[in-house]
Amino acid sequence: MATLLDGRKLSATIQEELTEEVKKLKVASGKTPHLAAILVGNDGASETYVASKVKRCEEVGIQSTLIRLEENITEQTLLYKIEELNANPAIDGFIVQLPLPTHISEQRVIEKIDYRKDVDGFHPINIGRMAKNLPAYIPATPFGILQMLERYKIPTSGKHCVVIGRSNIVGSPMSILMARNTSVGNCTVTLCHSRTQNLSDYTKKADIIIIALGKPAFLTADMVKEEAVVIDVGITRVPDSSKKSGYALKGDVKFEEVAEKASYITPVPGGVGLMTVTSLLYNTLLAAKKEIYK
Ligand code: GUN
Repeated sequence: MATLLDGRKLSATIQEELTEEVKKLKVASGKTPHLAAILVGNDGASETYVASKVKRCEEVGIQSTLIRLEENITEQTLLYKIEELNANPAIDGFIVQLPLPTHISEQRVIEKIDYRKDVDGFHPINIGRMAKNLPAYIPATPFGILQMLERYKIPTSGKHCVVIGRSNIVGSPMSILMARNTSVGNCTVTLCHSRTQNLSDYTKKADIIIIALGKPAFLTADMVKEEAVVIDVGITRVPDSSKKSGYALKGDVKFEEVAEKASYITPVPGGVGLMTVTSLLYNTLLAAKKEIYK
């Protein structure tokens, strides 16, 4: 039976450390880190994520400002808002919650953000610097996964890591990070996606599987090697009348059967998701301290 990679416990530990760091910064410089988040429209999942970011900022003593914009605003209005935040010295870092309404170009929006305030690490300058192993903001979910691997002392050097899913937010940066010559890294990485043929030929050979597809219970035990490390990034809402919210969160891994075979596994909920917000808080602290960019 696999050991659980407990995101709840680990994120609480890191959050305590961050709270201390934020306090120290205040004492040393009188400065309170300040994160802003732009939320366009009323997408249910985005509302939940942003609310959780604001709440957890408060818990660690980071100031936050939520900027809500109507679903039907023009792209230009959003770009002006970003320029304002870029120019505002009181804001250390900010994010634009994705996805955006289809009439707005995510690419133009991301490129408008000053890369020095891009605590999501989505700007091409941060992605490029990350790929070159230069100081950069690392996207929150991949960063949270690195933290998990590091703190649970899971060896990665020389291991075969299979990443499933090539999104800009998770799969693509994850594949770059696991291959870098860094303490968590040095893997041989295979990046699998919707066009991959015979996916299980790859997953069966993987020492580490990181799956970010958004397809509940996709990864089954027959696809996984004995003693593999399995990281489940999926969080799909499926209707569940027994829950107060009316839905349950489901991962991409068929947990009960894969847990029998794996050496380590992340649960959903209580795994990677909580680590994501922790990483955003960490990036915001780095921004306030000007540790990455002067
Ligand atoms: N949508 C899903 N994940 C993320 C994230 O990490 N940052 C932003 N801005 N939007 C998201």
